[in-house]
Amino acid sequence: MRLLGGNEEQDVGDVLKRSFETALRRVRQRAPLLVAVTMAGGAVGLIGGLSPWMVALGAGLALILAALVSLEGDAAAEQGGVVIAPRAAVADLMGRWRAALDALPDPVIALDQSGAIVHINPAAREIYALLRPGGQPSLLSRDPIFLQAIDEVLEDGLQRTVEVQERVPIDRRVRLTLTAMAGTSTEAAAPRVVIALRDLTEQDRLGRMRADFVANASHELRTPLASLVGFIETLQGRASDDPVARGRFLGIMGQQAARMSRLVDDLLSLSRVEMREHVPPRAAIDLNETISVAVQALEPVARATGATLTFTPCDGPAVVLGETDEIMQVVQNLVQNALKYGAAGRPVAVTIRREARGPTSRLAVAVRDEGPGIPPEHLPRLTERFYRVSAKSSREKGGTGLGLAIVKHIINRHRGELRIESEPGKGSTFTFVIDEQARRPSLHV
Ligand SMILES: Nc1ncnc2c1ncn2[C@@H]1O[C@H](COP(=O)(O)OP(=O)(O)OP(=O)(O)O)[C@@H](O)[C@H]1O
Ligand SMILES: [Mg+2]
Repeated sequence: MRLLGGNEEQDVGDVLKRSFETALRRVRQRAPLLVAVTMAGGAVGLIGGLSPWMVALGAGLALILAALVSLEGDAAAEQGGVVIAPRAAVADLMGRWRAALDALPDPVIALDQSGAIVHINPAAREIYALLRPGGQPSLLSRDPIFLQAIDEVLEDGLQRTVEVQERVPIDRRVRLTLTAMAGTSTEAAAPRVVIALRDLTEQDRLGRMRADFVANASHELRTPLASLVGFIETLQGRASDDPVARGRFLGIMGQQAARMSRLVDDLLSLSRVEMREHVPPRAAIDLNETISVAVQALEPVARATGATLTFTPCDGPAVVLGETDEIMQVVQNLVQNALKYGAAGRPVAVTIRREARGPTSRLAVAVRDEGPGIPPEHLPRLTERFYRVSAKSSREKGGTGLGLAIVKHIINRHRGELRIESEPGKGSTFTFVIDEQARRPSLHV
């Protein structure tokens, strides 16, 4: 015998078999409830003084009744193999896909059958503040390739990926992956296309930075290397019998080799500190002591330039969580810069001050020179690798342009802040600020 159910013709035997299996599955699922009802029925029978046969019959009837009630109370009715969920279940399902999209870290937007926005997850809302449910995806991008892709996905259900370049509100390149959502729900707000967005701007920037870095590093190495190769050839050729020229050339070659070795050291230093940047130092160190040692080590350099180098520690212990070697490297770089680029013979001052910040305090270490200063347009870029106000003057002074980049990464690792203040003609002050640790309890209190 055949039955017509939904759009399909079905075998009665099959339908009965499936119904029986479904009932059995649900009875199994509700086993604890059924056992409880049966036992209650049996107990009532016994207390009422009925015969064992009557008790068994009562318990059996209670079991069948409970099974029927449980089947009837089931939320979803199965018809012809298609599950038609009641309104409450649909609402629950809608809530669930929204919650799933909201949990994704990447920006995601869902469109309905008409191509209008039905949902924007928090990551997308953060970037595209203008998007609203009910709005059009053209608010996301007006690029015809993107808008056409939406129509195509709605039509053929195939996934598409497009890349668009946005100019407004800011320049950014975005990859959009459009995926069709098949569903049985007839709800108007059901998602039909899910659009996952990936902002490629940062990735592009990092790629450019890496390429620039390799180009800069090769260029910085190539210059002294070319000079070395040139002098070797000269020494092998016409200068081979000239002891005066040989002595002078070997001196220059020594300088160039030292320059290359300094560059390699700085590159290694930078990569080491970058690798450790996410692990803040744990040791408690006293900045008064550490910086005093660093400044003393630089006194001969200051004397050679005719400058006076002074150090003023702050009152009491100046304890921070820090790495002694790295703090010394920061002070060395800043003081060397002040001596190199400051006015010859003018003082260079290193001071530590305590800055109160609510219940906590921070320690500010400032290196001040009275040199020609730095024009304001250069200030934001000074900590970029290889960035120099004047590459020629820096190179002449033996600089590699990596000093402040190393300083910035070390201060980042210490969760501190680097401030650069400079006024052309008046000098520059480079200050780094690190959280002060609770003072060590004094033994004499
Ligand atoms: N105190 C200062 N006064 C004026 N200009 C400065 C000062 N400190 C840094 N600069 C400018 O900032 C640039 C970058 O400094 P940075 O320390 O990173 O590199 P460098 O000194 O050229 O080389 P390196 O420190 O690697 O030997 C310098 O080339 C210089 O132009
Ligand atoms: Mg420097």
